[in-house]
Amino acid sequence: KQANGTIKIAIQKIGRLSEGSLELLKNMGLQFETYKDRLFTSCRNLPIDILFLRDDDIPEYVQDGVADLGIVGSNVLDERETSIQRLLPLDFGYCSLNIAVLEQSMLLSVNDLKGKRIATSYPIALARYLTEKKIKAEIVLLRGSVEIAPALKVADAICDLVSTGSTLRTNRLKVIEKVSRSQAILIGQNDPPEQKKQLIERLLLRARGVQEARKYKYVMFNLPKDALEKITKLVPGCKSPTVIPLNDPRFVAIHSV
Ligand code: PRP
Ligand code: ZN
Repeated sequence: KQANGTIKIAIQKIGRLSEGSLELLKNMGLQFETYKDRLFTSCRNLPIDILFLRDDDIPEYVQDGVADLGIVGSNVLDERETSIQRLLPLDFGYCSLNIAVLEQSMLLSVNDLKGKRIATSYPIALARYLTEKKIKAEIVLLRGSVEIAPALKVADAICDLVSTGSTLRTNRLKVIEKVSRSQAILIGQNDPPEQKKQLIERLLLRARGVQEARKYKYVMFNLPKDALEKITKLVPGCKSPTVIPLNDPRFVAIHSV
């Protein structure tokens, strides 16, 4: 391992993206151990360190060069002016930024929010949305635990990410408006250090490979030879299926993507 060529990948420590991020890195062939509250781990088979951080901090870490790559929700990127590169949408971590109110609230739509207080960690996306809808409301900026703001009467509504919906349910909140959508995305520096470029390219290629592979299945089965024509129409494969003769001449094996 060359000390200065080590690639650092930042992923979310605890939250919506943690599991999907770890799964992606493992599927990319990175071998590492991690458990509980670890702050980082080193890969066994490649000069790569994985850093576990708060998702909202990841864009800054990548911009400052503390991390070379990061996995964040696209919503986090929409909130800042960081000059980083969006390398690859990752097709997991889908969620949406929603405006929600307490279940018993009389506020039913965005129009009811005029002059109200809305708590959020996503002030830019919310402000953009309110301007678009021509609604003047007060934005209360909270760094975390936004979901308890209405119960504490800190705000009349919240604007927060909803993924499974269980945070809302637990806090007796209901969605009244959808502001934007988000999914996990791989980010990197605009101009990565020369000695790291090759490995970064390789990792990007592998990440793309993992995503491609998720779209395909390799099927193998045996069937009577006279059904071959029908089956070939059902499983045409990329070009054409592989047909292998069996010991019993009445049967063949088919392999197809
Ligand atoms: C978001 C949001 C909620 C949770 C919603 O947090 O703030 O807490 O996800 O998910 P659910 O609908 O599945 O309950 P995030 O993962 O961004 O973590 P953070 O609040 O620590 O930034
Ligand atoms: Zn977050």
